[in-house]
Order: sequence, then C-alpha cells, then structure tokens
Amino acid sequence: MEGIKVNQIGVSFKGTGSFVPDQILTNQKISQRVDTSDEWIKSRTGISERRISSLEDDVTEMGYRAALAAIEMTDWDVKTVDLIVLATSTPNDLFGSAPSIQAKLGASNAVAFDLTAACSGFLFALITASQFLKGGSFKRAIVIGADQLSSFVDWNDRRSCILFGDGAGALAIEATSEFDNFIGFDMQTDGERGSFLNLPSKNIKDSIIDNIDFLSGGFSPIQMNGQEVYKFAVREVPIILDKLFKKTNYSSGEVDWLLLHQANQRILDSVGDRLKIPREKILSNLEKYGNTSAATIPLMMDEAIKNNRIKQNDIIAMSGFGAGLSWGAALIKWG
Ligand code: COA
Repeated sequence: MEGIKVNQIGVSFKGTGSFVPDQILTNQKISQRVDTSDEWIKSRTGISERRISSLEDDVTEMGYRAALAAIEMTDWDVKTVDLIVLATSTPNDLFGSAPSIQAKLGASNAVAFDLTAACSGFLFALITASQFLKGGSFKRAIVIGADQLSSFVDWNDRRSCILFGDGAGALAIEATSEFDNFIGFDMQTDGERGSFLNLPSKNIKDSIIDNIDFLSGGFSPIQMNGQEVYKFAVREVPIILDKLFKKTNYSSGEVDWLLLHQANQRILDSVGDRLKIPREKILSNLEKYGNTSAATIPLMMDEAIKNNRIKQNDIIAMSGFGAGLSWGAALIKWG
C-alpha cells in the first residue's frame, strides 16, 4: 500500500566558529591564589589552563566572533539568517544578549533570543533551533554557546575555581528537503538534584518603603558539590546516549566521534568506557580551555572540523550535562 507522501524537512550542518579570550590562566598561576598544584588539577580533571575574558571580550563579543566565523564558513549572506539562539548563563544583559549579537552581525532579518540551561545550554539550543527548521518556520539558524563563568567563580574556592574558563562556539545550520543529518535527540532535567550546582541570586532583603520589601539583584558565586555532580554525569550520560542509540537504531560502534560537554577528562573517559567507545574517538580539548559551560561543545566541534578530524558524513554522538540538573544527547551526521 502506498503511503501519503509527506514533504519532510531535515537539518544540514554548514559551518562552525569559535572564539576564546587571549588571557591564559595556567594551573601554576591558579596555585598563586589558592592552595592547589598543577599536578593535582591535571590528574583530577585533565585541565592545564583556561582562558579568562577581559573587559573587551564579554559574552556578546565572544558570541559575535564565533557566530561570524561560523557564517564565514558558509556561502550565506548574513541577511538570510532567520534565527539566532544564544545559549548562555552569563549574558551581558539579563534581558538577553542575543539581539546585541544580531545587531553586531547585521543579521537584521533574524529573530534572536537567549536560552539558559547551564552546561547543557548549547545542546538544548541546538535541539530548539533544529525544531524550528524541521517544523518549516525558519530556514537558516545560528546556534551559539558562550559563557563567561570567570565572573561568577569564587576564586578563593579551590574545589571549583580550577574547573572553569571563558569562551564561545557557534554552529550554522540549514533546513533542507534532501536529507536529515539531525538523526535524533533526547533531553532531561531533574530539579530535585538542582542544589548540586548553582549560581544563585543573592536574595538580599531590602525595603522600598515601610512594609514593602524587595529582594535586591545580583548573584552569589558558583556553588558546587563536585562529587555529586561527578556521579550524576558518569551515570546519566551513558544512559541517555544508550537510550538515543536504541531510539534511532544506531549502535555506539557506528559512532565516529563522541563529543561530550568538556567538564573533566575522567568523566569523558568513564562515559566512553561505559559505551565501549574507544579513547581515540573521544574528542577532548579541555586541557587548554577547561569547562567553558555552554561553549564547550561548539568550541570542540569547531576545532575538530578545522583540523580535519571530523569529516563529511561522520556520525557524532553529543551529550551536554550540568546545572539544573539538566542533560541531553543528540546524534548527528556532519554535513
Ligand atoms: N587542589 C588540591 N586539593 C584539592 C583541590 C584542589 N584544587 N580541590 C579539592 N581538594 C582536596 C579536597 O579538599 C579533599 O581533601 P581532603 O580529603 O583532605 O578533604 C581532596 O582534595 C579530595 O576532594 P574531592 O572533592 O573528593 O576531590 P575529587 O576527586 O572529587 O575531585 C573535582 C574534585 C571537582 C575535580 C571532581 O569532583 C569533579 O570534577 N566533579 C565534577 C565537577 C563538574 O564537572 N562540574 C561542572 C559540571 S557541568
């Protein structure tokens, strides 16, 4: 029996870009501030150094530079971009920084908005943008992950300050009726375990007039229960990827690259082991950048594309995870 012919819209991956600030903070330099050592940080996390934003390279600037580089890899006129999604937890403007990036790009026909899901942010933004493309609403989208956690790290807390750095990455994606390279995704949150990793508001009570109180703005530094976050990641990430493989009829053996949120080398290795994905297929650049939150996945992707490791039609299994708690996975084919 012949079925009804549906005009399906798929997603094609067209370009990548990234940007990191010039300032390099090595492990040795951190040990001038807190009681730690290069040896301790490297052996527990795999991180050697991270980048720190200065005044000139805030989230808007980093996101703009990454987005521009991604567009330059395509043959697009910037005026044909329909959608810009900026994943960030550290916008320059709490009302949203994506429209500022839109303005800097001159992408005057796009709609631009922020999306916050901490270190899962880029993955959630990529899934969101892809749904707009697959639904037929938009044709061309830029998905950006940019974060400046250095502004919110407690630089006197050696248990957390060693992990984080600043940076941005971006992906240019396009709707197509010829194929679909966005194979599948899954996403999850668990607010019950949210207290393991927070960047909470200060909640300092003040009063406007007698008997009318308000909470003044501002945020406290990042609070993290490292061991619980570690256990969460090594348990949930293999489960969600495994579920995605089953749902899409793929196996971990068919994966060319495992691209995880770059939080800790031990997490990357443990997830790879559980999924039986060999080390040489696990992409990692956290030695140079640490955990750049929403930026890690596109930053790593851009590096792997530009140095010709990821090639046309390679299958990439991605997973982002972090505060919320939130986590997600996506299976894509590059190109
Ligand atoms: N330098 C030296 N010693 C340190 C240290 C540092 N930077 N940070 C912690 N320590 C000490 C602790 O004080 C503790 O000492 P004690 O046993 O005398 O109390 C000891 O090292 C072990 O601490 P612990 O917290 O058990 O270390 P760990 O092996 O769990 O490693 C993390 C800590 C943070 C590296 C690890 O838990 C981790 O990576 N968790 C995941 C965090 C993450 O990825 N967050 C972002 C997710 S998006």
